[in-house]
Amino acid sequence: MKVSYHGHAVVKVETQGKTILIDPFINGNGLTDLKVENEKPDFIILTHGHNDHFGDTVELAKKNDALVIANAEIATYLGFQGVKAHPMHIGGSFEFEFGKVKLTQAFHGSSYTTPDNQIIYMGMPAGVLLMIEGKTVYHAGDTALFSDMKLIGERHPIDLAFLPIGDNFTMGPEDAATAASFLNPKLVVPIHFDTFPPIKQDPNNFISLLQVVDGKVLEVGESIEL
Ligand code: NI
Ligand code: MN
Repeated sequence: MKVSYHGHAVVKVETQGKTILIDPFINGNGLTDLKVENEKPDFIILTHGHNDHFGDTVELAKKNDALVIANAEIATYLGFQGVKAHPMHIGGSFEFEFGKVKLTQAFHGSSYTTPDNQIIYMGMPAGVLLMIEGKTVYHAGDTALFSDMKLIGERHPIDLAFLPIGDNFTMGPEDAATAASFLNPKLVVPIHFDTFPPIKQDPNNFISLLQVVDGKVLEVGESIEL
């Protein structure tokens, strides 16, 4: 499978002829190399409702007849918008045609601001475990550091972990380095930095803080073969 990073928290997974987009924030994302009109996801996975993650989900899903996988609150809202959605919740896993998805806890918020400036609360935020082709990819979503990351890494040995390092809204580099030691993935990639002034970070500083886990800074558009 091919896993690529597209700025902020946007991750694309290509496996067995299927494309999965995680947190497709494209319009308004000054870092991304993606364009809504070029993307053809079969599945979209959302970690939480914040607009820098929910992004262009409705347009992308409708245009491509994609299935959106999200917590029950977001999935219900998407259903009202005429989008196909599969509701899940934290701790639950489900086997899709491309592989298994499990939602994990995240310590964060999950409101969504509608185009007419209504704030809707979208349940609990989540992280995502993807079990595809015998490999496990973890996208932490937006979260603070929490010690049960140890449990997540023990229960599901992780090949590749995407961790937020931007600070202010999520873990900063030091906490993310501790998160990496708790999760113990084969490789960790920093995300959720540099998009907005309060989350400016040097990702190489995060890499230098890693003790035992290997880390790699992915350029926007760069991919890893798993
Ligand atoms: Ni958020
Ligand atoms: Mn965010």
